[in-house]
Formats: sequence, C-alpha cells, structure tokens
Amino acid sequence: MRLLTKNHFYALIAAGIALCSFDAARAEESAHAVKLYNTYCVQCHGINRDGNGINSASMAVKPRDHTDTKAMGDTPDETLFKAIKGGGLAVGKSILMPKWEGVLNDDEVKELVTYLRVVSKTTPK
Ligand code: HEC
Repeated sequence: MRLLTKNHFYALIAAGIALCSFDAARAEESAHAVKLYNTYCVQCHGINRDGNGINSASMAVKPRDHTDTKAMGDTPDETLFKAIKGGGLAVGKSILMPKWEGVLNDDEVKELVTYLRVVSKTTPK
C-alpha cells in the first residue's frame, strides 16, 4: 500500500509554500516595524528597547522598558495601541510619551504593537 499518493504530495507542497509566504509576509512586516521603532522610538526607549534611550537620562518619567515581560504582559494590546497613537495622556500616563497620530497610520501603530509583543516576549492580550 502506498501511504502517500501523488495528490497528498502536491497538497503538502502547496501547504509548505503557503506557510513560507505567510512567514515572509510577517518577516517583512516586522522589518518595517523595526525601522519605525529605530526612527521614532529609540531616542527614548533605547537601542536595546529597555527604556534607556539617549533622552531618558534627563526625563522626569522614565520611558517604559519594552523588554519588561511582566509589565508588558500585563498591558493589553488596546492600551499599547492607544498609548502609541494618542500618547501617554490617552492612557492616563505621562505627556512625555508623545502621540504618534498624524505621523504613523493605524496599520503602522498595529505593526508596532505586534513588534512590542516580540520584543517583550509576551503574547497578544
Ligand atoms: C520623547 C520620548 C519618547 C518617545 C520618542 C517615545 N516614547 Fe514611548 N514612552 C515614553 C515615556 C516617558 C513613557 C512612560 C510614560 C509613563 O509611564 O507615564 C512611554 C511609554 C510607552 C509605552 C507604555 C504605555 C503604557 O500604557 O504602559 C509604550 C507602549 C510606548 N511608550 C511606545 C512607544 C513607541 C512605539 C514609540 C515610537 C513610535 C515611543 N513610545 C516613543 C517616552 C517616549
């Protein structure tokens, strides 16, 4: 008995290709998010994403450490989205976290939220 028919084989190849292109799309999206982060967020949140950006030394309120799994894990996606789009004030936090509405569109803010889940090793919430 043949365990794997020709059709099964083709189906497997097709699934493999679908998976690869899905990964490629995700990788591309996160590369874009890294670029956005490195352009707009690093000066405060730091090249290591730990809140120690070049500006942070002189700031009265420290930028969030995006590698802090506990704090980031406790923060829902919606709050991250609001904080990035509307700034600290939109989520009852410091005005020192600027709002990015008008600079970043909603899709880009979403990409950053997804990227922050990777940086903080947390799952979407
Ligand atoms: C001018 C400095 C500055 C820049 C630039 C900046 N942030 Fe912030 N960010 C802060 C500060 C300060 C806080 C902490 C606010 C607080 O705890 O009250 C913060 C907090 C946050 C939080 C946590 C919000 C919460 O509810 O816990 C997120 C998420 C965040 N920033 C994302 C970003 C992203 C993404 C960018 C780039 C698009 C960015 N920040 C750019 C200063 C900055």
